[in-house]
Amino acid sequence: MEEFKIQTAVCFGADALNCLKNLTASRIFIVTDPFMVESKMVDRITEQLKEKEYMIFSNVVPDPPLELVVEGVREVMAYKPDTVIALGGGSAIDEAKAIMHFSKQIGDLPDMEFIAVPTTSGTGSEVTSFAVITDKDKGVKYPLVDKSLLPDIAVLDPGLVKSLPPSIVADTGMDVLTHALEAYVSTKANAFTDALAEKAAVTVLKYLVKSYESPVDMEAREQMHYASCMAGLAFDMTSLGVNHAIAHNIGGKFGVAHGRTNAILLPYVIAYNAEIQDYNTKEYKTAAKKYAAIASLYGIGGVNIRSAVKNLIHQIQKMQKLMKMPVSFKECGLKPDEFHKAEEQIAEGALADGCIVTNPRVVSKKDILDILKQAL
Ligand SMILES: NC(=O)c1ccc[n+]([C@@H]2O[C@H](COP(=O)([O-])OP(=O)(O)OC[C@H]3O[C@@H](n4cnc5c(N)ncnc54)[C@H](O)[C@@H]3O)[C@@H](O)[C@H]2O)c1
Ligand SMILES: [Fe+2]
Repeated sequence: MEEFKIQTAVCFGADALNCLKNLTASRIFIVTDPFMVESKMVDRITEQLKEKEYMIFSNVVPDPPLELVVEGVREVMAYKPDTVIALGGGSAIDEAKAIMHFSKQIGDLPDMEFIAVPTTSGTGSEVTSFAVITDKDKGVKYPLVDKSLLPDIAVLDPGLVKSLPPSIVADTGMDVLTHALEAYVSTKANAFTDALAEKAAVTVLKYLVKSYESPVDMEAREQMHYASCMAGLAFDMTSLGVNHAIAHNIGGKFGVAHGRTNAILLPYVIAYNAEIQDYNTKEYKTAAKKYAAIASLYGIGGVNIRSAVKNLIHQIQKMQKLMKMPVSFKECGLKPDEFHKAEEQIAEGALADGCIVTNPRVVSKKDILDILKQAL
C-alpha cells in the first residue's frame, strides 16, 4: 500500500502572509539572512506579529554551515520559542529546520510550530522533510531527512520574490526543474507525484526565462513560486536522483550555487538516464519515455522518444544560454587540475548520498566520472 499525504498547509497568493495574524504563538524565533533585514523584507513578517514577542536571528549564509546551526541551537535553547518562522531561500529554511531538529534532541523544549516563508523559487524546502547542512572543513553537504522537519505551514507570497536578481532567478529556477525531473523519473514516482512533477516541469519551461527577463512579470514570478513548491511536494515523496547526489558533493567542495551546479549536470544526467545512444532501439527505458512525455506536454515532442528527449535537452541548453548561465564547471571558474584531483572523492560521496537510491538507472562510480568529465 502506498500513501500520499501533504502534511504542510500551503497558504498562497498576494495576501498569504495574513495567515500569520491567526497564529496563537506568543514567542516567535525568526530565522533569516542579513539581506532580509537590510532590505526590510523581514518587516513584512513582523508587522503581522503585533503584540507578540519575537527575536530575529539573522546570520544565515548560503549553504548553511554546521557552526551557524550550533549558534542557532544555543539561541533557541535560551529563548524557548513556541513558534519558529524561517524567512528566506533554502538556506534560511534549512538552517531553521536543523536548529529545531537539534534543539529538540538536546533540550527539554515545548512543541514548536514551524512556518516557512520562501523568498526564492527554488528548493521547495517549505514542504520537504529535507535540510541540507554543509561541513565546510570536509567540503561535504549533509542532507538531514526526517518527517519531523516538515513545516506546519508554508506561505507562498509572490511579492517576496519580486526583488530576486536575474542570476538567482536562473540558478534557483533550474533547481526547480531538476527537482521536478528527478521526481518524475524516480523509482518511487507514482500517479500523484507525477501530476505535481509534470505541472512543475512544464511551468518552469514556460515561465523561467520570462521571470529571468522581467522582475515585473508577476505572472511569471508567481507561477515559478508555485512550481517550486509543487516540485518540492513531489520530491518529498519520491526523493531525487544522481543529479542531486553529485551536486551535493560539488557544492560542498567548490561553493558553486546549488541550482547552477544542478543545471550544469542536468543535460548529461538526462542523456545518461534515458539511454538513447542506440539508434536501433525500439525498447526505450521508462525514464526516456517520461522525459519525452515532458517534452510533448511542453509542445516539443519529437517523431520518436529519442528525438523528444533530445529536444528536452536542447531546450534546457537554450534556457541556460538565454539566462547567461555557465554551462560547465570551467565556466564557473573551477580549475581543471583541482577538479580532477577531487573527482574520485566527488564520485564516492555521490554514491554514498541518499538521493542516488531512487535514480532510475543503477549508477556506478565510472558513470559518475563520465558525467563529471562531460560537465567540466
Ligand atoms: N531542503 C531542501 O529540500 C533543499 C532542496 C534543494 C536545495 N536545498 C539547499 O538550499 C540551499 C540553496 O537555497 P536557495 O537556492 O534558495 O538560495 P539561498 O537561500 O542560499 O539564497 C541565495 C541568495 O539569495 C538571496 N535572496 C534570497 N531571497 C531573495 C530575494 N527575495 N531577493 C533578493 N535576494 C534574495 C539570499 O540573501 C542569498 O544571498 C542550498 O544549501 C541547497 O543545498 C535544500
Ligand atoms: Fe535542489
